[in-house]
Amino acid sequence: MTFPFFMPPGVAFTNGHFTAENIITKVTHSGDLAGIFHDQTAWRAIPSETPIYQVEMLSSAQGEGELYVGTTHLNPGRVGDEFYMTRGHFHQRREQGEVYFGLRGSGLLLLQNEQGEARLEEVSPGSVHIIPGLTAHRLINTGTEVLSALAVWPSIAGHDYAALAQGFALRVVLHDGKIQAKEVQNG
Ligand code: F6R
Ligand code: ZN
Repeated sequence: MTFPFFMPPGVAFTNGHFTAENIITKVTHSGDLAGIFHDQTAWRAIPSETPIYQVEMLSSAQGEGELYVGTTHLNPGRVGDEFYMTRGHFHQRREQGEVYFGLRGSGLLLLQNEQGEARLEEVSPGSVHIIPGLTAHRLINTGTEVLSALAVWPSIAGHDYAALAQGFALRVVLHDGKIQAKEVQNG
């Protein structure tokens, strides 16, 4: 008896693009990120249709025990002095973790627990980031090329953006020509 060999989806580790029959993509534009960047005047000066990041995902099963795989492509740029970043979220199912893999570009992964304690991990090609449960996460592009990171997470995790209405405790800015993390005073 012979069994067929199925061709699985593929991912190019140089840029995070998938080859598969069904790829889901979602672009987040500047106009979608109201209240995210601290310099509101600089944010308003950017055309609202400016693409900031794109997520491409494999279409896969949903439900308890199932996994999603997706790549975030975060453009380089700044709003005022603050580097482009993703909105950032806790998982709706707080206990669910995630793994990010840096593929191209350079940046930071901002992690923050429920007590508001934040830390930053450097993201670069080949970096592996284990995001524990109960930890909010945001990608920040501090480089000059697209930052692409592959992620694997439980399909039941969901996103809770509202829990971060006060924002993260750190902002990453270009100050005196240097990439610097600053504590946010008023959340
Ligand atoms: C999934 C995950 C990533 C992000 C993506 C966009 O749990 O962490 O796929 O969803 O980087 O960021 P957000 O969702 O914060 O806009
Ligand atoms: Zn996540």
